[in-house]
Amino acid sequence: MKGLFIVFEGVDGGGKSTQMKMLSDFFKRKGYEVEQHMEPTHETIGTVLWDYMNSKNRSFEPETEALLFAADRIEHGKNIRKALEERKIVISDRYKHSSLAYQGAAGADVDWMQSLNKHALVPDLVILLDIDPEKSLGRVSDREKTVFEENEYLKKVRAEYLRYAELGELVVVDAVQSIEEVHADILKHVDKLA
Ligand code: TYD
Repeated sequence: MKGLFIVFEGVDGGGKSTQMKMLSDFFKRKGYEVEQHMEPTHETIGTVLWDYMNSKNRSFEPETEALLFAADRIEHGKNIRKALEERKIVISDRYKHSSLAYQGAAGADVDWMQSLNKHALVPDLVILLDIDPEKSLGRVSDREKTVFEENEYLKKVRAEYLRYAELGELVVVDAVQSIEEVHADILKHVDKLA
């Protein structure tokens, strides 16, 4: 099998980290080499974004956010390509659809963002862990909340995600189920890749 690029998307508190780890362990048991990535990254531009999101003050325009996330993504792309060339499996916590959904919900122009992200890799699979933000926010402690974790806003973010799912760009997995059930649903989609 060639390398695979799998992305997890969804509003915060949907269980992404747990499911990413379970999927990564699944591939490792089968003998594949797996890299877990995340956006924002922990490279130079990603670090600026983490500081911003932890600042508790959403002071940037959505367009500024979109530019910074897109720049971080271009740099991230180099690491993804390298891993794929080495036939590894890359599992990323967020990618392009986070920008389309979060900055789109905040008012940034979607066509403009698509062109900013024109050179982003097309993942083999994008999994949306779908959950009502009212339920998911209860899973995120106050200390961990970033500038984006606000109920009404996250409802819009979820609606944006579901729009891209209808376009067939992401597959939807119901994140309200048990951890094992969510994992099983994810594996059904992964099986189709082989
Ligand atoms: P998150 O993935 O929830 O990480 P953690 O669980 O460690 O807090 O935080 C990343 C935040 O970044 C999330 O609120 C969504 C936001 N984000 C965007 O708004 N646009 C983007 O393009 C990306 C990659 C992330």
